[in-house]
Amino acid sequence: WASFADDVDAILELKRRKNAVILAHNYQTPEIFHCVADIVGDSLALAREATRVDADVIVLAGVHFMAETAKMLNPDKTVLIPDLGAGCSLADSITPDDVRLIRQRHPGLPIITYVNTSAAVKAESDICCTSGNALKIVESFGLPEVIMIPDEYLARNIAAETDVKIIAWKGHCEVHERFTPADVQEMRRNWPGVVVLAHPECPPEVVAEADFSGSTAHMSNYVGDVKPSRVVLLTECSMSDNVAVNHPDVEFVRPCNLCPHMKRITLGNIRSCLENGEHEVVIPADILERARLPVERMLAV
Ligand code: 13P
Ligand code: SF4
Repeated sequence: WASFADDVDAILELKRRKNAVILAHNYQTPEIFHCVADIVGDSLALAREATRVDADVIVLAGVHFMAETAKMLNPDKTVLIPDLGAGCSLADSITPDDVRLIRQRHPGLPIITYVNTSAAVKAESDICCTSGNALKIVESFGLPEVIMIPDEYLARNIAAETDVKIIAWKGHCEVHERFTPADVQEMRRNWPGVVVLAHPECPPEVVAEADFSGSTAHMSNYVGDVKPSRVVLLTECSMSDNVAVNHPDVEFVRPCNLCPHMKRITLGNIRSCLENGEHEVVIPADILERARLPVERMLAV
């Protein structure tokens, strides 16, 4: 407890001294999410809020692609990530060469790229999307067919909600791909009346068994709006911990999967990141310029 309180106090003081803000994703642990973060949210909210930051330094408590997005939208600010190894299996599933090949194979079709990708992959893309706006982005072209990379399951889950044909890639989230329809059936047996919310990175067979599917922000809003008496969030473990704090009357069933990348961020390395100004997120200028366009197009839709 002493070291926890010491880290929190030190981080709050460092933020003031260095004119820094902490943007934290919904999967960060409660002590980060509730005690030191200035802005919390899903990937879309973090990208939007990054365009409004006034501070000199942004600490991204999340994974590397989120820190890159914050840097693209704030090229003149210092963007720090507490652990450079905080990656993402989706971002690792596709390279810029893959995207160039996809474009050659499907000339004329727009390439919609999930934000869970590197800046270099975004630089080859037409527009970005997040799980919070993917359907809107897909339909924004008014075309019968689009390409959506790299999350196969997100693409198939969105395809089930629209007449637009979606050509997908074969990337998966290592956290959400582990949920199965049998898990959902077992939860319904063991926890009668449980309302099942699934992130759209889950396999389509899992989403089909759920009561609702949406981004981490949409799941959190659902709990606030509907106030189910018993709920399970099929997503990363910290999500339920963070949402439960604000809803003491809702019973959270907690089977979940940990994201090892998100869990690399700790109070200790946020503190040292602010103390030492490391690790700075750097994107080569030519890539940054090209990668920013699809992110800005997404924010304009
Ligand atoms: P959200 O945009 O829904 O927060 O999802 C980000 C993510 O990494 C999910 O695994
Ligand atoms: Fe990537 Fe999945 Fe972790 Fe989200 S939960 S950061 S998609 S590996």
